[in-house]
Amino acid sequence: MTDIQQKIQELKAAGKEMPAPEMIKNAEQIDKIRLAGKLNTAALDLVAKNIKIGIKTEELDRLVYEFLIQHGGRPADLAYMGYPKSICTSVNDEICHGVPNDYALKNGDIVNVDITTELNGYYADASRMFIVGRANKRATDLVNITRECLKRGIAAAQAWANVGDIGAAVSAMAYKHGYSIMKEYGGHGVGIEMHEDPFICHVGKKGQGMVLVPGMIITVEPMINEGTDEWYEDTENGWTVYTADGKLSAQWENTILITEHGPEILTE
Ligand code: MF3
Ligand code: CO
Ligand code: CO
Repeated sequence: MTDIQQKIQELKAAGKEMPAPEMIKNAEQIDKIRLAGKLNTAALDLVAKNIKIGIKTEELDRLVYEFLIQHGGRPADLAYMGYPKSICTSVNDEICHGVPNDYALKNGDIVNVDITTELNGYYADASRMFIVGRANKRATDLVNITRECLKRGIAAAQAWANVGDIGAAVSAMAYKHGYSIMKEYGGHGVGIEMHEDPFICHVGKKGQGMVLVPGMIITVEPMINEGTDEWYEDTENGWTVYTADGKLSAQWENTILITEHGPEILTE
């Protein structure tokens, strides 16, 4: 038994909530997921290079589709539970799962582009915010503070800490600025499948929830709203999630490997 397995046994015996064996990736799996992460980052870089006033979100979708296929990968979103497109593009009051369409981005829009890449059967998942042209201070503040929420959430993802520590770190930052947090959607295990356990809620209490163990790979992906945390789903496309009050929402996401020496970001 390795030191890590031994420690897991001890903590389990002490009544702590521990990850199931399949939540801990081996070295070969980690290498493959790291490669998927590199390709995913390149796809987001391609979006960064091309996003501009007037471009349609479906044009970004097409670019990413072509790029991933050309590089031997696949957009994991495509056909996932019937999802019709290759990426998610969530604009302004769209919290997540914005479906690319013929909407042309306009000056002042804030847009989250979320990509999940499958490469050789392994998955990595990340998203960034983009400010189209120039946005007002209200919008840029939300984008920047949400990025800081991600950074603090990742910093809390230390080996032998708890999942609740991530939510505690994210929510302390968000609430300090008077923002609200999406609670029903959040981060997740990732790597062998697009969505694995555990669920990573971005609201939490320090010391609560599953213990984070070296070899776990999870996403941290806070969705932060300037107004209410209430939301509704698009009745036409069945996917897009909007803020109930029409106010702005922002999100940043990375795929993280838990290591003895701290969190390692696999998607930047
Ligand atoms: N990338 C999203 C996440 O962060 C999942 C998108 S699923 C889709 O978990 F079907 F909406 F594309
Ligand atoms: Co995700
Ligand atoms: Co994602």
